[in-house]
Amino acid sequence: MLTLYFYLCKRKRVIIAIMYILENVPLSGLSTMRLGGIGKFQCIIENKDELKDAVNWAREKQLSIKVIGDGSNVIWSDSGYDGLIIVNRLPGFEITENDDDNVYVTIGAGENWDYIVEKTVDMGLSGIEQLSLIPGTVGATPVQNVGAYGREISDVLMTVEAYDINNLEFITFMSSDLELGYRTSIFKTKDKDRYIISSITLRLSRINPMPPFYSAIESYFKDNDLVEYNADNIRKAVIEIRNSKLPNPKITANNGSFFQNPIVDQELGNTLVKRFGNIPHWRLENGEVKLSAAWLIEKAGFPKGYKDPETGMSLWKNQALVLVNENAKSTQDLIDFRNKILISVKELTGINLKQEPEII
Ligand code: EPU
Repeated sequence: MLTLYFYLCKRKRVIIAIMYILENVPLSGLSTMRLGGIGKFQCIIENKDELKDAVNWAREKQLSIKVIGDGSNVIWSDSGYDGLIIVNRLPGFEITENDDDNVYVTIGAGENWDYIVEKTVDMGLSGIEQLSLIPGTVGATPVQNVGAYGREISDVLMTVEAYDINNLEFITFMSSDLELGYRTSIFKTKDKDRYIISSITLRLSRINPMPPFYSAIESYFKDNDLVEYNADNIRKAVIEIRNSKLPNPKITANNGSFFQNPIVDQELGNTLVKRFGNIPHWRLENGEVKLSAAWLIEKAGFPKGYKDPETGMSLWKNQALVLVNENAKSTQDLIDFRNKILISVKELTGINLKQEPEII
């Protein structure tokens, strides 16, 4: 049964606030894949004191902590989550520095990402317009170094402020400390679940972006007879491209790209290019070869729009990389469907696809 608790937050024995904690929460509401069991406790934090209180509460009860934004990259297990889920709603948008070319903005981790992109574009600033319409919150963007249409958050990220759950203090990371790479950072690897991101600082530019752009954006400009490359036009292009390819998580249960695009060594890359003449591939500076996971999935027998009657899962009609929960009954259904894809791609190519969303 869903229960509401009150936690009296004290400083020097004086009650200064009341925190609401929910018990026995259906986890499907905390993931855009809309699957999973029951979460033991959940609370929402809207300022830094609440963040510290929530951590203290969980520590007193020796509970594990999981912080989420909108649950766009999270899948909950059928067995549920036994600790405290903290929903990060820390607000904020502040210009912290300003010069002729650049504007530095510090943004609360709980802000909606696309709202912030829209706001900065409306201010005439360039830097994150290619990341338009990415679901989720600001605090999630450094975790897996979100990227789309030729831009990664690492290109404009200056610092990240985060609360260290081990040492109970806020610290500020330079982006160079974060080991940001393709869909990765220390928040996903060596320091997973250690920090709660409270804000990020971006360096945005007053100067219009310069071509070349991702080919789909260039095509949009050509088709629409646009000649001026500015943040506003690029945002419009990205919104149109994304809407034509990707499902809206508010309407269709999904987690965006379900697998990373694999990077293979030169030898395997060359073998696959020889075997499948038309395989999309990108040669990296170090000789490795990046492949399209979507293309491999299709080649392995799962075309766009594929429906799996056994599990109730499907692939999005315009993009084979997006797994959709049409009428799956459990996270196990999703795992079974995922495994079918993994095995088929492995058999065909020898590649182990790497999953993008986290199963908790
Ligand atoms: N392709 C297919 N079949 C498909 C879709 C794509 O064969 O169903 C091939 C095409 O050859 C195409 C190539 O894959 O040229 C690349 O496709 P696309 O530009 O759509 O990009 P993607 O690799 O499928 C990545 C990101 C997306 C991001 C787009 C645009 C990953 C795992 N995914 O997708 O990110 O929006 O590029 O830059 O890197 C997300 O992470 O949730 C996400 C949507």
